[in-house]
Amino acid sequence: MLVRCLYASRAVEPIAVGALDRILEKSRKNNFPRGVTGLLCYSNGTFVQALEGGREIVSDLLGTIYSDNRHSGLQVLMFEEIAERHFGNWSMGRVNLDTVNSASLLKYSIRAELNPFNMPGSATLALLMELAAAGSIASRG
Ligand SMILES: Cc1cc2nc3c(=O)[nH]c(=O)nc-3n(C[C@H](O)[C@H](O)[C@H](O)COP(=O)(O)O)c2cc1C
Repeated sequence: MLVRCLYASRAVEPIAVGALDRILEKSRKNNFPRGVTGLLCYSNGTFVQALEGGREIVSDLLGTIYSDNRHSGLQVLMFEEIAERHFGNWSMGRVNLDTVNSASLLKYSIRAELNPFNMPGSATLALLMELAAAGSIASRG
């Protein structure tokens, strides 16, 4: 049973590039053998992550991530059974919002900034899919 989970959270303190790289490196190392794919986006203290994979595996991983003290206030935006993956190319891709055309952000939100807490989960997912299609994923792991 394949599922996709989308969540948003807030960094407890601003995440430096090196710290984000460490999260991504660990994620890729763990996710690949578990068949987990997805994207991670960090901007202005906000994380958005899409996780795809087996239902039990994604549920367990979400529990692990939830308990991670580098972020808090995690809100699940979407958790659904899926017929196919959207982010199957990435064991954990990094979305670099600095390189994203502001029109892509404005398409789904009031301002050209990432604010998943004020957007429907479906719009945040649509944004991530658009960024993946536009080649805005910095690294695939
Ligand atoms: C925003 C965020 C996203 C994360 N995403 C993942 C992930 O996709 N996969 C993963 O294994 N760990 C992820 N982590 C790290 C986990 O919370 C945890 O530290 C890690 O899975 C522990 O792995 P270990 O048991 O191999 O040391 C993430 C952490 C944060 C803060």
